[in-house]
Amino acid sequence: METDRIRWNEKHAAKTGSGDPDLFFLKHSDSLLPGQTLDLACGRGRHALYLATLGHGITAVDISDVALDYLQNRAADNGIELKIVQADLDQPENLFAEQSFDNIVCINFRPPDRLLAILPRWLRPGGKFLWCSFNEIQAAIKGFPVTLALHKEAFLHISGLECLVYERFEDHTGHRDGYLFVKK
Ligand SMILES: C[S@@+](CC[C@H](N)C(=O)[O-])C[C@H]1O[C@@H](n2cnc3c(N)ncnc32)[C@H](O)[C@@H]1O
Repeated sequence: METDRIRWNEKHAAKTGSGDPDLFFLKHSDSLLPGQTLDLACGRGRHALYLATLGHGITAVDISDVALDYLQNRAADNGIELKIVQADLDQPENLFAEQSFDNIVCINFRPPDRLLAILPRWLRPGGKFLWCSFNEIQAAIKGFPVTLALHKEAFLHISGLECLVYERFEDHTGHRDGYLFVKK
């Protein structure tokens, strides 16, 4: 949605750097398969860049052209090639129809239900989906919409995926839920 793009562009324009990778992501990134990885709602690319340096082929998608321009420039400065896709993940149906990935990572973003319904199709059998975001406790503390939060054990059963890890925890960024899935 255009209003989301503008709102997120403003947020990204106000930031510097891309930050260190998320701790849950780092804890479980060894479980990812070598190969092609899709970073959903990649932002300024802290996970995309990290995985690219480990040898992953990266496709990074976000609605914010400001964030993607930053990522593209950082990648170019470091001699990293990656595929950048600007897209609205609220309307995911026409994305990646002909592609499948070894891994999908999604940090600090709550994919809409229609994306969660088709996301397993974007993974090859045995592929991993590593996801961590803020939960409803953090939503109550920070006052963001609870519809954007993860809820206790809410995603243990996503059709086509098997949940390998579910953790509810608090770290220096706040109250979070993290999942690691494998495509059946
Ligand atoms: C909190 S940031 C997380 C960024 C990144 N995953 C990270 O952990 O650094 C959420 C990201 O979701 C993106 N986003 C928000 N709504 C979106 C949408 N409808 N489609 C695609 N990206 C979206 C924003 O531009 C932003 O980069």
